[in-house]
Amino acid sequence: MALFPILRYPDPRLHTVARPVETVDDRIRQLVDDMLETMYAAEGVGLAATQVDVHERVIVIDTSDTRDHPLVLINPELIARSEEMHVGDEGCLSVPQVYDRVRRHARVVVRALDRDGQVFEREAAGLTSVCIQHEMDHLVGKVFVEYLSAFKRDRIRSRMLKRAREEARA
Ligand code: NI
Repeated sequence: MALFPILRYPDPRLHTVARPVETVDDRIRQLVDDMLETMYAAEGVGLAATQVDVHERVIVIDTSDTRDHPLVLINPELIARSEEMHVGDEGCLSVPQVYDRVRRHARVVVRALDRDGQVFEREAAGLTSVCIQHEMDHLVGKVFVEYLSAFKRDRIRSRMLKRAREEARA
């Protein structure tokens, strides 16, 4: 097991489009396990491979209070989206300490491969639905701040760059 460093916005690598996983083999299972360890260590509810600079379609999520219900999505596709929308605060491990409102489908049905390479479908609502949509955006190179106004996004970008400079100096 190993912890990955998490890319921080506005790192251009966060805008890479991930390719599908061809075979769910030991390499992918190791990636999944390391991503889960990284997500739990960072106290996040979701992590996409893009955020750890691996550009393959792999997501891990755990929205349980007990932090012991990992959801692994390999090559996820949304096969249904509710017309009903939900607006809620989102954050991201790649944009620490920034939270803002994003509009998402209230419910989705996702089809994906699990850690054993078996196809499954999952209907999700609430936080899990939001999280699936947020993480799937990462796989196409999209960070949630891109839903915000250009003004807000520029302010976040400056704040993140300033913080990175301060951390580099410390
Ligand atoms: Ni994120």
